[in-house]
Amino acid sequence: MSAHGDPIPMSARRAGPLSGVAEVPGDKSISHRALILGALSVGETRITGLLEGQDVLDTARAMRAFGADVAHLGPGEWVVNGVGVGGFAEPADVIDCGNSGTGVRLIMGAMASSPITATFTGDASLRARPMGRVTEPLALFGAAAYGRAGGRLPMTVVGAVEPVPVRYAVPVPSAQVKSAVLLAGLNAPGETVVKEREPTRDHTERMLAGFGASLRIEQTDEGRVIVLTGQPELRPQSIAVPRDPSSAAFPVCAALIVEGSDVLVPGIGLNPTRAGLFTTLIEMGADLSYENPREEGGEPVADLRARFSPAMKGIEVPAERAPSMIDEYPILAVVAAFAEGVTRMPGIGELRVKESDRIAAMAAGLRACGAMVEEGADWMAVTGRGPGGLPGGATCATHLDHRIAMSFLCAGMAAQHPVTVDDAGPIATSFPVFEPLMERLGAVFARVGA
Ligand code: S3P
Repeated sequence: MSAHGDPIPMSARRAGPLSGVAEVPGDKSISHRALILGALSVGETRITGLLEGQDVLDTARAMRAFGADVAHLGPGEWVVNGVGVGGFAEPADVIDCGNSGTGVRLIMGAMASSPITATFTGDASLRARPMGRVTEPLALFGAAAYGRAGGRLPMTVVGAVEPVPVRYAVPVPSAQVKSAVLLAGLNAPGETVVKEREPTRDHTERMLAGFGASLRIEQTDEGRVIVLTGQPELRPQSIAVPRDPSSAAFPVCAALIVEGSDVLVPGIGLNPTRAGLFTTLIEMGADLSYENPREEGGEPVADLRARFSPAMKGIEVPAERAPSMIDEYPILAVVAAFAEGVTRMPGIGELRVKESDRIAAMAAGLRACGAMVEEGADWMAVTGRGPGGLPGGATCATHLDHRIAMSFLCAGMAAQHPVTVDDAGPIATSFPVFEPLMERLGAVFARVGA
């Protein structure tokens, strides 16, 4: 089943080289945060380059349900009139976050320190994902959560009437958990302290500072410590959302594995907490360069140039790099299948609780395509077949997971036989223009059964 309708089986086959310019959409993580912090500030926040994928549209709808005025002015252009910290109204109906773990977890955090109750749900993928990792720290503020067994959605969160500030060490490397705690800390008096052992994406911290929150970040022997002073008046902002490195990963990696390709992907956000994939690809021998590096909207940005790279070799990806490329392992596994030798990916246990169990989904699909894949609880190793060497010819199950679908379609662009995905529908959650954008570069897709 697709997230929002009937499944859309689709295949990709090897054609000519990919070439041209790929203008990928806005960053999903930053888009969610821009809407939520806009809703928590007083006055008008203007956003350009917002990702208009289903995940972010679901967050926009949720912000309206909590009382903010959210208006769509034109492509990527939005205005949010916020209600201020502590100003959320109680939603009149269930909040449906669709496929989005980021949406539901950040919104739970943002409402948990207000005296309101909200019930959250999502699609079959989201209803299978653990929410205890956010509701446990939110309980320390005084909130209560009642969900299904295993801390699953649907779940009702009863916000704290008199929230207290919290000190919390995030037990898993998760920017969603860190952000949920920080957003809840906004409406608690005094200092909320969050500690993370491994640095995860820091868009929440950067944006909170931009909105005028008082925030201190200390690097200690035990990791990063973030100290937030509660109950600030957030000042509305103008936010230019950079293009998403996690979406750029697909045209970049497709160009590396499709013979003769040369693709430019301009204006990509290269926050160091997000750019691990590109470092890894360069270490593997990819012909990938950063052009015109600059800063936009408080985030480092550059144009990425990727060319066919027949000399890529498998490497061991350092486990400590995992948080900075956590969403990119599925497409890295595809690149690894076209490299020479073994690519080992340790320290990736979190992939088991993403939109799908991404280790299992990639291992099953790549094996069906003719690659050798080994896996353990928190690791995966892919033995490559060399450039053009993956047989393909399989149908891969995507489990309502956009990144699994896009990864196998990219595999099909370079494999000897077409690769089919059982449902391309979820791609709309993060990269709604994936199909026409890749087609403009030269990719050839077919809607199976159409
Ligand atoms: C995200 C954090 C990551 C990532 C997700 C987006 C965010 O999830 O996988 O796609 O915007 O904070 P975790 O917090 O579960 O690692």
